[in-house]
Amino acid sequence: MTEISLPKSVTAAAGTNIALVKYWGKRDAALNLPAAGSLSLTLANLGSETTVRFAPDAGGGDGRDCVLFAGAPADPKFAARVQRFLDLVRTRAGFRLPAEVATTNTVPTAAGLASSAAGFAALALAASRAAGLRLSAAELSELARRGSGSAARSIFGGFVEMSAGTRADGADAVARGLLDEKAWDVRLCVAITAEGPKAIGSTAAMERTALTSPYYQGWLSSVPADLDQARAAIAARDLAALGAVAERSALRMHACAMAANPHILYWNPATVAAMSSVKALRTGGTSAFFTIDAGPHVKVLCGAADAPRVEAALAVTPGVMRVLVLAPGQGAHIVNEN
Ligand code: PMV
Repeated sequence: MTEISLPKSVTAAAGTNIALVKYWGKRDAALNLPAAGSLSLTLANLGSETTVRFAPDAGGGDGRDCVLFAGAPADPKFAARVQRFLDLVRTRAGFRLPAEVATTNTVPTAAGLASSAAGFAALALAASRAAGLRLSAAELSELARRGSGSAARSIFGGFVEMSAGTRADGADAVARGLLDEKAWDVRLCVAITAEGPKAIGSTAAMERTALTSPYYQGWLSSVPADLDQARAAIAARDLAALGAVAERSALRMHACAMAANPHILYWNPATVAAMSSVKALRTGGTSAFFTIDAGPHVKVLCGAADAPRVEAALAVTPGVMRVLVLAPGQGAHIVNEN
C-alpha cells in the first residue's frame, strides 16, 4: 500500500447565495443536474465553516465518519448526506479513510435560513483539500453541486451564473463568477417572516413540480431570456433591470410550484405584506426588488445607500420578525490548513 500524506485538517468557509434567476427543476436527479441555468449573489456573514480530517483514527476509530453540526452529533439524515458526499471525494482521491467533519453555520439560529448552499460549498473545498486533491474552481463547483444544486454557485463570490450544461456526466453543469463581491455595492435585506423548517424541501418540491405542474415547461422555457437580461443588467450595473428580472423569476418559480398537485405554497401573510412593502418603497422612489426562495422569507435587493430605508420599511411590515442586511461576499475559501 502506498503511503498517503494528507494535511491534518482543513477548514473552509463559504457564504450562502440567493438566486436572482431561480433554479427549480433537475434534468438528472442522481447527479443533481439542473434543468435550466440560474444566477445568484453570494453573501457575506451568512454562511458555513467546515473542518475536515481524513485519518484511520478519525471519528473514534471505528472506521465510520463522524459528523458534527454546531459541536453536537449531526442528525442522522444530514450525516448520511455528508457521508455520501465524502464518498465522492474518497473515490476521487482513491482511498477509503474515514473522516471527521465539523460544521458550524454563521446563520442566525432558528431563522429558517440554514443553507445547504454554503454548507456543501465549504465541505467540497475542505474535504477535497483534506483528501490531498487540488481541484480547479470549476471542478469544485461540479463537486459542490452533487451536495446541493445551489452549492455549485457558492464556490464563487459576488454575482455568479450556473450553467445547466448539456453533458450527461454533468462536467459542464458548473457555475462561474460574473462580477466579484467588491465590484457592485448592493445589499440584500432579508425579512424573516417565520421560525422553523420549511414546509417541503427543495428536492422533493422540484420533483413534484416537474411531475405535476402544468406550468413546468413554461417555467423552464422562460429561464434563458431571464438569464440573458440578468447578465446584461449586471454588466451595466443596472439595478432596476436586474431587480425586474429577479422579481419575475421568483414569481414564476413560485407560480409553477403553486400549480403542482398537491400544491406547494411557501408563503405566509407576512411574505405577501413584505412584497407590498417593497412595491410601496418603489412607489416612493426607492429602488428595491424582492425575491423569495423555498420558504416564506423575503429577500430584497437594493443599493447600499438605500439599505437603511429598506430595512426600516421591512421592520415595520406586519408579521416580519426581524431583518438582516447582507453585503456581497466572497466564494468558498480556505480558513486554516495544517
Ligand atoms: O440547492 P437546492 O436544492 O437547495 O435548491 C435551491 C432552490 C432555490 O433556493 C429555491 C432556488 C435557487 O436557485 O437557489
